[in-house]
Amino acid sequence: SPLYAVFGNPVAHSKSPQIHAGFAAQLSDPVRYEPRLAPVDDFPGHWRAFMAEGGRGANVTVPFKQEAAALADRLSDRAQQAGAVNTLILDRNGEVVGDNTDGAGLLLDLKRLEAPLEGARILVLGAGGAVRGVLQPLLEAQPSALVIANRTIDKATALAERFDIQGRVRGCGFEEIKGRFDLVINATSASLAGELPPLPDTLFDEGALAYDMMYGAAPTVFLQWAQTFGVRCVDGLGMLVGQAAESWYQWRGTRPDTTPILAALRADLR
Ligand code: ATR
Repeated sequence: SPLYAVFGNPVAHSKSPQIHAGFAAQLSDPVRYEPRLAPVDDFPGHWRAFMAEGGRGANVTVPFKQEAAALADRLSDRAQQAGAVNTLILDRNGEVVGDNTDGAGLLLDLKRLEAPLEGARILVLGAGGAVRGVLQPLLEAQPSALVIANRTIDKATALAERFDIQGRVRGCGFEEIKGRFDLVINATSASLAGELPPLPDTLFDEGALAYDMMYGAAPTVFLQWAQTFGVRCVDGLGMLVGQAAESWYQWRGTRPDTTPILAALRADLR
């Protein structure tokens, strides 16, 4: 049966094997998907050994996302834009393609949630690697405005300039955020430290959705804060399943139904 893997260090915590096993069962496609622990100093060697075993593709997680980009024969446009690779694909010519499915995964999840996108005002908090990969797919959903707010203002304005082809993207600091939004996406790693960026309390419009790219058994500090405004709050577990579904699609050409897989993961988190 076709062989896939997730490479990381550490990798034991990865939910990807469970997610892809779920896709395989759902679609009656007997793929094997294994966690592979590579030493930090020899990811390329372990990738080559995996290919020699017949491996057809892999997900790549911390700390190998940049190295994966370096060993790929070519990069997809979206991997170039994100500046990182989370998916390696062996194409039919035997070339290794580096792809990034995080942005598509977020959009899959936002569409599942029927989130306000087209004509909506979207605010993205953060300007790091997680944001670079999602701006293009968010813009393709045709929002009326996209604001990037970040602690380090220069990073937000630089990103906004790079992506602002249609004059709808603006970068600023947290204190300068103006207006209300239909969708607010937290892509800062502040949640990891249990911190909340200094946000105005006039952020959410009627019917807004607060989305955190992070997830956990308990709501993140950002979602706890958003809940006090009575808006709909969703964490990033669905984005995780979404990026997996997009990787699966690149490898197998089929689209799994993410809903039951997400429900099973959610049950395990509790
Ligand atoms: P990632 O790949 O997860 O985006 P990153 O590239 O290191 O990681 O970016 C982390 C993001 O979280 C950045 O936008 C960072 O803000 P700075 O650019 O000012 O560093 C943001 N961040 C991290 N800790 C934060 C905190 N305590 N408060 C607000 N923003 C924070």
